Amino acid sequence: MNETLLLVGAYLLGSVPTGLLLAKSMGVDIREAGSGNIGATNVYRTIGRKLGILTLLGDCLKGLVPVLVARWLGLPDLWIAAAGLCAFLGHVYTIFLGFKGGKGVATALGVFLGTSPLSVLFGIVIFGSVLYKWRYVSLASITAAALIPVLVWATGGSVKLVLMAVVIACIVIFKHRENIARLTAGTENKFKA
Ligand code: G3P
Repeated sequence: MNETLLLVGAYLLGSVPTGLLLAKSMGVDIREAGSGNIGATNVYRTIGRKLGILTLLGDCLKGLVPVLVARWLGLPDLWIAAAGLCAFLGHVYTIFLGFKGGKGVATALGVFLGTSPLSVLFGIVIFGSVLYKWRYVSLASITAAALIPVLVWATGGSVKLVLMAVVIACIVIFKHRENIARLTAGTENKFKA
């Protein structure tokens, strides 16, 4: 019972479209601006640093909180991974926006902070290095996503957590397919600090 409630709660929490709500508070429909994504990068790009950072924090917490609750309940890794995955799926396929959500990077960050913090440390170094060299947040996100299963495994994560990371990585990369097309065409937005 606890487990079912946790998974449903995680999905619903993940479904809250932080960036959309914050942008709306400024009179902007973020789906109609910039890349059209509801995530922190697009909020930062189209509205500004403060709201971009708030979106990042909000989306990250949506992934972190369910995982921490699962841990607090003393549940095994299977349920911790399932809670993290449900929160992530909530963000990416949110029930509140007709199952069209964000790309999941910030929410995944929260999930991995709660399940495999050491892998996040390496992931952030990789993300930061790619962003610093090429200035594309999308490329940094795709690279970090592709490597996170290996990082979770290399830092001692269980098979269940590695499998969760594989699923999350595949979905993050799939959700970046328009970015990949723009990167290939040389038309992707560069990050401006
Ligand atoms: O986390 C999303 C980021 O990787 C790309 O965002 O707005 O440039 O599509 P955006």
